Amino acid sequence: MRNLLDIMDLSEEELYGLINTALDISKDPDKYAELCKRKKLATLFFEPSTRTRLSFEAAMYELGGNVIGFSEASSSSVSKGESVADTVKVISNYADIIAMRHPKDGAALVAARNARIPVINAGDGGHHHPTQTLADLLTIYKEKGSFEDLTIGMCGDLKYGRTVHSLVYAMSRYKGVKFIFISPEELRFPRYIIDDVLDKKGIPYSETKDLEEAIPKLDILYMTRIQRERFEDLDEYERLKDSYVLTPEKMVSAKNDMAVLHPLPRVNEISVAVDDDPRAKYFEQTLNGKYMRMALILKLLGLDSKKEEAKESVKTFFIDGLKCPNNRCISKTEQELKQEFYAVDESKGIYRCIYCDTEVRK
Ligand code: CP
Repeated sequence: MRNLLDIMDLSEEELYGLINTALDISKDPDKYAELCKRKKLATLFFEPSTRTRLSFEAAMYELGGNVIGFSEASSSSVSKGESVADTVKVISNYADIIAMRHPKDGAALVAARNARIPVINAGDGGHHHPTQTLADLLTIYKEKGSFEDLTIGMCGDLKYGRTVHSLVYAMSRYKGVKFIFISPEELRFPRYIIDDVLDKKGIPYSETKDLEEAIPKLDILYMTRIQRERFEDLDEYERLKDSYVLTPEKMVSAKNDMAVLHPLPRVNEISVAVDDDPRAKYFEQTLNGKYMRMALILKLLGLDSKKEEAKESVKTFFIDGLKCPNNRCISKTEQELKQEFYAVDESKGIYRCIYCDTEVRK
C-alpha cells in the first residue's frame, strides 16, 4: 500500500506522471468523472484549512467519489483523548483513502503506520506539506515549461513554513536550480535541510534579509505567511509579522516573467494591488492543487493504471534514554508511541527522530 507523507516519497518519474495526469484532467475532466465511483475519501483535519481540505473534497467529487470527515479536532473523538493511531484504525473501516492534517510534526507517519488504507499527509505541523508542493510544481511547470535552471527566492517564515521545506526537497532534484532564502534572522531556513539536501548535493544557495536586493535575480518568488500558530513566544510573532510586504513598487525591479507563488492564506505579505499583475500566480496555484490532488488520489488508489514503486525502507533504532527534543513532535503527545530514530552518523552517535527529523545525539 502506498502513502504520501513527504514529497520525496515520489520519484521524479512519478512526479512527471502526476503532472501529465493533472494536465490531462484539466483538458478533459469528463474522462475522469467516474473513476472513483463507490470510493470514499476521509478528510481528517485536526487543524484549520480552506484550500487543502476543500480541494481534496472537490477532487474526490469530480472523480465521482464521496467524502466523509471532519474539519476540526473538536468535532472528532480526539477531543475525548483518542489517539491518531486509533482514529485511523477506525477510519480504515469506513473509507478507501485518508487525507490528514495535524498540528504535530510526524503525525502523518503515525497515521500511515496504523491505517489499512493509503494516507496522504495534508500538512503535519511545521514538517511537511507534500500536496502543496504538488500544486507548486504544476504551477512552476506550467509557467516555465521545465524545472531546470531556475533561481527560486523563498521569502518570509522559512523556519516554520512547511511548504518551503517540501519545495526545496522537490526542486533539489533538478539541474541548475539555485535558492535565495529571504527571511528575518529568527526565521531562517532550517539548518538540517541545508545540510541534508543543499550542501550534500552542492546546490547553490544564499541567505539575505533584503527582499528588494534579491528580487531582480529571481525566476520564481515564493512568498510565505509568518506562521503565528507555530510560535511559542507571541511577542516574537508580533515583532516579525510584517517583516515583508510585496508591493507593485517592489515588482518593478523583478523580471518580466518572474512568477509570484504563495501557498496562501496570505495575511499582509502580498499587497492586494499585486493581484492584478500577470506575474501573480497564487490563485491559479490553488486550482493546480485540485488537479494534482485528483491525479494523486487516482495513483494511490491504483486507478491510474501505473505500476507502484516502493520507497526504500530506512533502518530505525530504539535507543534507551534517547528522546526527541522537539515539543511540537507527535511523539510528545501520541499515547504509548516509542521514541524511534534513524541514523545520520551511527559512529558519532548522531540520529534523527523518525517523526519530525529533529537531530539528537547519543
Ligand atoms: N496552502 C494551504 O495549505 O492552505 P490551507 O491551510 O487553506 O489548506
